[in-house]
Amino acid sequence: MKLAVPKEVLPGESRVALVPESVKKLIAAGFTIAVERGAGDRAFFPDAAYIEAGATIEDDVARMLGAADMVLKVGPPSTGPSTRNEVELMRPGAMLLTSLMPTRNLDAVKALAARRITCFSTDAIPRTTRAQAMDTLSSMANITGYKGVLLAACELCKYTPMFMTAAGTLFASKYFVIGAGVAGLQAIATARRLGAHVFATDVRPEVKEQIESVGAKYVGIELKQSASAGGGYAAELSEDDKARQRQMLAEQCGQVDVVVSTALIGGVFAPRIITADIVRRMRPGSVVMDLAADGGGNCELSKPGSTVVENGVKIAAPLNLPATVPTHASIAWSRNLLNFITAFWKDKKFQLDLTDDILRGCAITHEGEIVHPKTKEAVSAAGRA
Ligand code: NAI
Repeated sequence: MKLAVPKEVLPGESRVALVPESVKKLIAAGFTIAVERGAGDRAFFPDAAYIEAGATIEDDVARMLGAADMVLKVGPPSTGPSTRNEVELMRPGAMLLTSLMPTRNLDAVKALAARRITCFSTDAIPRTTRAQAMDTLSSMANITGYKGVLLAACELCKYTPMFMTAAGTLFASKYFVIGAGVAGLQAIATARRLGAHVFATDVRPEVKEQIESVGAKYVGIELKQSASAGGGYAAELSEDDKARQRQMLAEQCGQVDVVVSTALIGGVFAPRIITADIVRRMRPGSVVMDLAADGGGNCELSKPGSTVVENGVKIAAPLNLPATVPTHASIAWSRNLLNFITAFWKDKKFQLDLTDDILRGCAITHEGEIVHPKTKEAVSAAGRA
């Protein structure tokens, strides 16, 4: 079976889907692998390392994609016109394994269905124990939580840890983490390692214990309606609970130096829970680090991809933070893809069995159809709009 790894072409992307370590394992398992020249450069995996691992280096992307049985990527495939059209270069019937974020990329979904590509999107892999080792969302959220706190500490007008100096004691800064899933828990752990006092909140009740286990103080409201949507995902709050949460957030945000927000609904959509009014009540010099910017942002004032200042408060909304840690992000990504591919590799054949819960859960397009219910719904809704 032929695998192909093109260079990621979307702006700001520096990760690569497979690193040499995984190439070596896949080749030992019986795959042949072609890697586009320079695909690993920005993550510091040179062509020579891929050759040593047994891959071939390709200059002709059209030939490489056209010959592949499965294309491995990090982001959605490009569909032109400003970049090459990766979907058109793939052969009908081939497979694509990537994070498509299908409900955010409907044009790519439609193009993949029209080209009869079977696309598996790693962000739609069900959250089961068997699938844990394939979960790119968790691998990347971990990096986002870590890097987001480092950036927040750099933006802050204060030290993060306590310092006892000859000029007297300078007290540790206070951080407030909103949303304590994978990114939020890593944000808490990182802020604690930097010496901050950390407070955190979430809407899923089971998270309180997890927040405390990584060293933060839990703050929250008693919800009148459950906000667990199953599979670790949160549901949107009722209007009544939203109002009570807003009150709690205003009080907490007004007392801290850094707010790190990571809240997502269904893993995709960022609820706007930090209002402009909450920001205006924060202390000048403090920081909001909106780590949900890729999903639109948790703060009403966030401008995804930039930093704005309101009333002396910096509101940063960086995009694609995993790409700023490209070596480790690529290693984790590559291991997740390796685990996915080898789980279905039997008798030297990829077992494309859509009755398997993992494959069924993350198949977005297959044989010319959109087969993922939520994506199908999003395409129909966009059509109606
Ligand atoms: P996520 O990225 O979808 O959401 C981030 C966090 O925001 C969640 O904890 C969510 O409850 C919270 N949130 C949503 N709305 C909020 C609001 N209005 N206010 C405050 N917080 C809000 O979630 P993530 O990080 O991908 O995963 C959440 C959980 O799922 C993990 O803690 C884990 O328990 C579980 N999980 C299980 C996996 C598996 O078994 N394979 C893999 C990944 C996660």
